[in-house]
Amino acid sequence: MAYVHLAEQRTPMTRFTRRQVVLGGLGLAGTGLLGGCSPASAPGPAHGTRTSFPAQPALSPAPGRTVVEKTLTAGRATVDLGGPRVETWAYDQLIPGPELRATAGDLLRITVDNQLPADTTIHWHGIALHNAADGVPGMTQAPITPGSRYEYEFLVPDPGTYFFHPHVGAQLDRGLYAPLIVDDPAEPGGYDAEWVVVLDDWVDGTGRTPDDVFAALTAGNGSDSGGMGGMDHSGMGDPPFGNAGDVTYPHFLINGRVPATPETFQAKPGQRVRLRVINAASDTIFTVALGGHRLTVTHSDGFGVEPVETDAFYIGMGERYDVIVALGDGVFPLVAVPFGKDGQALALLRSGSGPAPGASVRPSEVDGQILQASDLRPAQSARLPQRQPDASVQVQLSGQMSPYVWAINGAPFGRNTPLEVSAGQRLQLRVSNRTMMTHPVHVHGHTFALASGVRKDTVLVRPMEAITLELQADNPGEWMIHCHNIYHAEAGMMIALGYRG
Ligand code: C2O
Ligand code: CU
Repeated sequence: MAYVHLAEQRTPMTRFTRRQVVLGGLGLAGTGLLGGCSPASAPGPAHGTRTSFPAQPALSPAPGRTVVEKTLTAGRATVDLGGPRVETWAYDQLIPGPELRATAGDLLRITVDNQLPADTTIHWHGIALHNAADGVPGMTQAPITPGSRYEYEFLVPDPGTYFFHPHVGAQLDRGLYAPLIVDDPAEPGGYDAEWVVVLDDWVDGTGRTPDDVFAALTAGNGSDSGGMGGMDHSGMGDPPFGNAGDVTYPHFLINGRVPATPETFQAKPGQRVRLRVINAASDTIFTVALGGHRLTVTHSDGFGVEPVETDAFYIGMGERYDVIVALGDGVFPLVAVPFGKDGQALALLRSGSGPAPGASVRPSEVDGQILQASDLRPAQSARLPQRQPDASVQVQLSGQMSPYVWAINGAPFGRNTPLEVSAGQRLQLRVSNRTMMTHPVHVHGHTFALASGVRKDTVLVRPMEAITLELQADNPGEWMIHCHNIYHAEAGMMIALGYRG
């Protein structure tokens, strides 16, 4: 087993050129289009073809903080989803993988032991970390090859609810995801218990793998054509998100369990419980509600918002919401209803006696007031300082199901022109969606502000919608901006953002 020493990674940073950016997965899709090759026949997808990478800086924890060390083994696993047993890939044989927890200012030293039959990496979604630890193969690091180990070392500057997953192919749609919670040393508290809730759409090991799904989508012959026919019929009025996802999933999970045998969280009546909800799905937007309760939304993508009450909220792929609930007495269903798709994910919150609701329970809150990110206002502490933008770039989303190509600024990743910014600039991103689907747009290494000032790293952009984001260019490197529908990203809906010289 080869150990990849950090020293070997400390090569000088070289300029990232368009020619070097050839996405493996995209390479596949492109080959498929041009030459009819099967996407499944290509080598492991990667996101670029650089062979030298930014150096990992020497880091130490902030004063008074500590080093959090952990080894994660990515490997094949047979996992019980609470009934269905599936062959999949997972971290430490768990779905979700083991939760990582740190305090803002800590140094994380995470070793990945790759026991998968494929290259992998880990991307620490939402963390404003240094570029070399960002986990984008061919851009920030060489892929971690089967049988080798790789050490990520980075500071976690901002408290909040995050998660991590590979940045290779459709691996996120296997079991390779887990929460990363960064506690606030200055946390005012205000809650008695905390429950981390990870949502997922599940297909792996049910007769198809995510690679099969992607191959069928790119071949244009999959049963996975939900994007064209999956309009929402939930009775919520105008479907706000257009066509539902591209993939039909047999299961929806909360914390790795199907609704028939849900996870049960125990608490006491009257307690205030903080729910940290993470959407780790690959192709599914959910509506989340807790039966018999109003939710007070306090954070989005880790950053504070002015607390606001709602019955339910929408959460796109890659988004996180923190909510506080004041618990009643009884057994309450926490549901995540997939937008425009059949089925649901379920967990239970038990604070008293009583029978558990059934797998298909549909609390009335799901049809009540459903909050979206645009309804939020930022907490004062989350605001970017007022400033005029120094530069503006466009991020134009396009694509369709057939041929299955998704693009940014007129071409799929590898053939589009990287965006550029200079360190210190306030950059405006003019994002426009020229498709009939909603896309969760995610930016690496930065947390942008919506027009309202709300800070996020992933935002749902609806069909034909145009929005303006602003970010402070304070984290030099080469970063990805992409759709967090993992199949769209693989099919090209990504673009690089680089810092000038
Ligand atoms: Cu969670 Cu590049 O994404
Ligand atoms: Cu998309």
